[in-house]
Amino acid sequence: MIVTVSRKGYFSAAHKLYNNCWSYEKNIEIFGKCAHFNYHGHNYEYIASITGKIDPETGFVFNLQKLKSILYDEIEKFFDHKNMNLDIEEFSSKNPTIENIVIFMWNKINKRISSNLDLKITLYETKNNFAEYDGK
Ligand code: NI
Repeated sequence: MIVTVSRKGYFSAAHKLYNNCWSYEKNIEIFGKCAHFNYHGHNYEYIASITGKIDPETGFVFNLQKLKSILYDEIEKFFDHKNMNLDIEEFSSKNPTIENIVIFMWNKINKRISSNLDLKITLYETKNNFAEYDGK
């Protein structure tokens, strides 16, 4: 039987969405408040979901204590209280949109779990706006 287990996490980080090839006016038109020149913050929430077979020895698909520690190392410690554009190399020339952030998070976490498990990350930037990525 295949089961999905999930853990929620949180981090607060600053960003700016901007395309240097465009005028300031066009950036505001496309990115709205997220183009604000001096950056702004979001309280991000995410869900890491792991799908796989239950290990008959433990009854677990994945040990959630272990997932907690992976998420702390790879996500909280890495993103919390950072300015994504300035502090995270991945986003020095790529906009830290939820689409790009969720893929980056997936790659960091997926490296830490076994290849016979499927990982999906859901990332919320606001209560209503979120992105999902499962490696496809
Ligand atoms: Ni924003």
